[in-house]
Formats: sequence, C-alpha cells, structure tokens
Amino acid sequence: MCGIVGYVGQRPALELLLGGLERLEYRGYDSAGVALLGGDGSAVRVRSVGGIAALRDALVRHPDAEALRVSTTGIGHTRWATHGRVSEGNAHPLSDETGRVQIVLNGIVENHDALRALLVAEGARFASDTDAEVVAHLVARRLDEGGLADAVRASLRLLAGHFAFVAATPDEPGTLVGTRRACPLVIGQGTDEPERYLGSALVGLPGELAGAHAIEDDEIVVLDPLSARVLDARGRPVTPRRLALGARQLRAERTEHESFTLAEIAEQPSALRRTLRAAPAGPGLDELPWVSLCAARRLTIVACGTSYHAGLAGRYLLERWAGLRVEVDIASEWRYRDPSIAAGDLVLGITQSGETADTIGALRMAGERGAHVLALTNVPGSQVTREAGAVLLTDAGTEVGVAATKTFVTQVALLAALARQLGAARGVLGDAQAERLDDQLQRLPAVVAAARAAAELPIARAAERWSHEPFFLFLGRHAGLPVALEGALKLKEIAYIPSDAYAAGEMKHGPIALLGEGTPVVVVATESPVLDKLRSNVAEVKARGAHVLAIATEGAAGVIADEADELVLVPATDPLLSPIPAVVPLQLLAHQIACARGLDPDRPRNLAKTVTVE
Ligand code: F6R
Repeated sequence: MCGIVGYVGQRPALELLLGGLERLEYRGYDSAGVALLGGDGSAVRVRSVGGIAALRDALVRHPDAEALRVSTTGIGHTRWATHGRVSEGNAHPLSDETGRVQIVLNGIVENHDALRALLVAEGARFASDTDAEVVAHLVARRLDEGGLADAVRASLRLLAGHFAFVAATPDEPGTLVGTRRACPLVIGQGTDEPERYLGSALVGLPGELAGAHAIEDDEIVVLDPLSARVLDARGRPVTPRRLALGARQLRAERTEHESFTLAEIAEQPSALRRTLRAAPAGPGLDELPWVSLCAARRLTIVACGTSYHAGLAGRYLLERWAGLRVEVDIASEWRYRDPSIAAGDLVLGITQSGETADTIGALRMAGERGAHVLALTNVPGSQVTREAGAVLLTDAGTEVGVAATKTFVTQVALLAALARQLGAARGVLGDAQAERLDDQLQRLPAVVAAARAAAELPIARAAERWSHEPFFLFLGRHAGLPVALEGALKLKEIAYIPSDAYAAGEMKHGPIALLGEGTPVVVVATESPVLDKLRSNVAEVKARGAHVLAIATEGAAGVIADEADELVLVPATDPLLSPIPAVVPLQLLAHQIACARGLDPDRPRNLAKTVTVE
C-alpha cells in the first residue's frame, strides 16, 4: 500500500522522511522516493525501485547529496503500483515538466485519463503513466493565481476518486499543502518546535509527537513549521479532530524471532490480554448503541480476507451466546448485490486496518440506507471509524507481517466479548453461564500461549515433510470451519502453495476427487454437535490414501485421533472460543513451510498490508 510522509521544520528533513518511510515499509511497496526543497528555490527529487535501502543508495550517489542533507522541508512516498508499472519514472514524487510542483499521492484519481488528455491538448508533456503527475500539472498551472494552497483547492475540484496527496513547491519553501478524499491523511506536531508532519498513517510519522489531528474529506491543510491551518473546500478555517496518540501503535520487535510474522504469532497472548483488558466489557463496548443491539434480531457482518474469517467465527459466538441471527458476507460481494438492508438494521464491518475500500464502501452503503453501522478495527482514527456510529477496538498493536495473525485472534476475542455482553443484556445467558464465559475469556491468553508451545515441534516436523507438496486441503466443520479457511489462506498467502478449504461435509459433493495417495489434508476438529460426522468425513479422506494432520482441541481429540496420521493437541477452552487457539498451529504451519521454501513470510509477493484500492 502506498505511504506518504511530509516534514517541515528546522531539523534536516531527509532522515526524518526516510525514518517515516521505514515505519510504513511493512505495508508493502515496490518503489520509493523523496523530494526536498532548498532555500534557493530549488527542489531535488530522488526515486528508486525497490526498498528504502535502494533509495538510500541513490541518495548517497546523488550529485546534490549535500543540499538533500540540509533541507528542512520535504515529502516522501512508498509506492504500491496499481496504475502504471513499477519503474523509477512512475515512483513518487511526481512533478510537472518544470519541477515547480512536487506531488506524493495515495489512492486513485479515477478521471486522470480525461484530465491528462485535456492537459496534453494544452501542451503539457508527461513523463510517467501516473495520476499523480496529472495532479502535479494541474496544481502547477494554477500556482500563479494565488499560491500553493489555492492551487491545490482549485485542482481538488477537478478530481474524482479516492486519494490523499501532498504538494510542495520551491516557490514556497517551508510550506506543504495536503488534502484527502476517502484516503487517510494526518497531521503531527513534533516535540522539537517549530516543526510539523503530514502522513498517511500516524504510525508512519517519525520521531516523538506532541499532538496529532485528522483531516476530513475535501479539507486542505497548509503546513508550516509553526502551524497547521485546516480549511474546508471553500477555504474557511475548520478545527481538525484531535487524534489520541495511543493510536500510534508501536509494532512488535523481531528480537529473537525468524520474522515479524513469527514475533507476532508469539505476541498473540499479550495482544489478547490488551484487547480483553476490560473484559468482560472489552474496550469500546460501553459506547455501543446498546438499545439497538439489545433489541436487534439480526446482525450483518461484512469483511474481507482474514477479517471475514473472524466474522465467520464470530457468527457462532453471537448466535449462541447473544441469540442474534447473524449473516456474514464478503464485503466486495455484499455491497454490489443490492442486499436487503433497511433502516434500523445492524451492520458490523470488520477490518483490522480500518482502510479496506470494500468494507468501507459496504458500510457507507449501509449507513445511507439508514442502518446502524458498527466497526471493529485495530486502528483508532482510521477511515472506518469515521463511517461507523460505534467502534469496537482491538489492541493488537501494529502488525508488520503482511499476513494477519494477531489481529485475527483479537478480532474473534472481541466478538466473543461482545457476544457475552449482549447475551447477558438480552437475557440469553444466565449469571452462571456469563461467569463461566468470563473465566474462559480471561484464560484465553494462557490457552493461546500453550497452543503455540504444544504445536511448535509437531508443526516443525510437518513443515519439513510437506514443504515440497504442490497442494493442501483443509477441512473443518462448525467452529472449526473458519479456522480451516484461515489455514488455507495463510498457506496460499505466505508459502504460495495452492490450497483449498472445505466444510468437511461437502467433501463427497466433489472435492474428494482431488485426493490421492499422500495428499496432505489438515483437519480442524473442535467439540461440536457434528464431531462424529467430522470423524466419518476424515475416514473417507483416509480411505483415499490422504495423509491427515489433525489440529484437535482436547475435547475433540479422543474422537478424531485414530483416524489421523498426526495430531496437534489444542488446549481446552469453550468450544466456540476454540478457533482462537486452534488457528495458532495453522499460522505456524504456513510460516514454517514458507521459511523451508526460502520465502520471506513477512512480505508475500503481490500483496500489500492494506487494500485501499477497489
Ligand atoms: C490475510 C490478510 C488479508 C486481510 C484483508 C482484509 O492474511 O491479511 O486477507 O485480512 O485484506 O484486511 P483488513 O482486515 O485490514 O480489512
């Protein structure tokens, strides 16, 4: 995902910008660049394909290395190519042909082709395929009319799409102008006054911050070392929303671990503890519209990827504990099929990043139809928190690995806390049941730690044996099904192995044809009313010669063990909470196989941490 950083102050900007870009690296990118303004009315731009290390090399070799080092105003960008191939020419910052305006842009300007054609007709020459260059030309053409801020505001009116951009010009050294529409942009105030930052994410602003604010859609911020003036689309001053600095979550350190992903798998107990700290209420639950939730008959959950799997696991909890009828849908499907949603309905979007375009689009549509919109996210102040009437926050910290791990377990845990709370309020759970569930929720961090310890050795062995397999099948039933889906997603995503996940009862309707001698089949067995049926499904799989690894909770192991070739035991918890510990061996399996295949589990190919592009 693209990242923006800007700095204006008295300190040399370059290291601060590079530090900010490094903090955003985990989101994925394929090229990077910076532009720095000189006091002499010049701008120096350096870009490179590859990582920040490649950009640092290019900076050292640059003929203007000294000017770059002393400049105190600059912008930087990490680019994730969506339109136009990965190349230095398409890397940001982009400028007009004179170099008077430098632009870093996230998101997409949807009408950039039409605007480009108009500009070309006026004689503009383009050097890249990007929409950012179109914006640079538009701003440059308006610069003489009233300065950078007016030029940005006038250009903004011409743009369609969802984007955030920051503009700089050597005509106004010591000034940056930023704006956004549906993509995030935040302002930070450094502790070393006078200085200000701009960025696409709070986590990407380098150094200590004394305060931070959010810019809303179509607002413009004019930043100089002493002030950040925020103006609405008509140029009237507005007071920006203050952001809690706790939102600037720090990322896990790799320390002794092979990768950030492994560090984050190991960190899951503390992520759960933080998220459930206020259990049984859980962070944010107090703010929910209880009246609507308590009266509701049904809840629609929309999400993508791993968050969708968390929603599927949450469905069992919310149906059983809270007595709600729950539908779970893929946001990118739900929003385009004219779903039956009406005023007063409840729609919950789950998105760890808070920025996923389809989930946000689905919630916006629900809100427009009068539904109560709730969001469950890991990032306070993210876009989804602005779309929702109430927000549930996980506290997993920043997840550096592209594959979601600790955010998944905290999402399910928070849905469980919500289900328990609602169940008591709606009279579905009695006092004794509620107390028992509170106890189970409190014990989750220890259960997850024990699940990892128990899985390490058998999973290491399985990864060694299976690292060259061309295909895996994952099976589960009931609360084990979302875990099977998540296991297959992790294996595809970080080990690049084609894999499928199925409700085990569906095997006989076609997928069983995939099985042959030695095919690896991973079965997730949890205590459920269909555990015996799962055992029969596994027997059928075995009869085709497949090699079965069972991930079984303590209560389910006795039923499934003699059908499995190998068993990984998951410590006991409430059966509906079991997806939380049961996913751990599958996260480890994908990670260990990726490492055995010589892959980088933190940065899968073709994937970015945050998907803001539709
Ligand atoms: C998988 C993964 C993705 C995300 C999906 C949704 O490991 O990370 O499938 O879960 O892109 O992202 P969020 O939760 O940020 O909406």
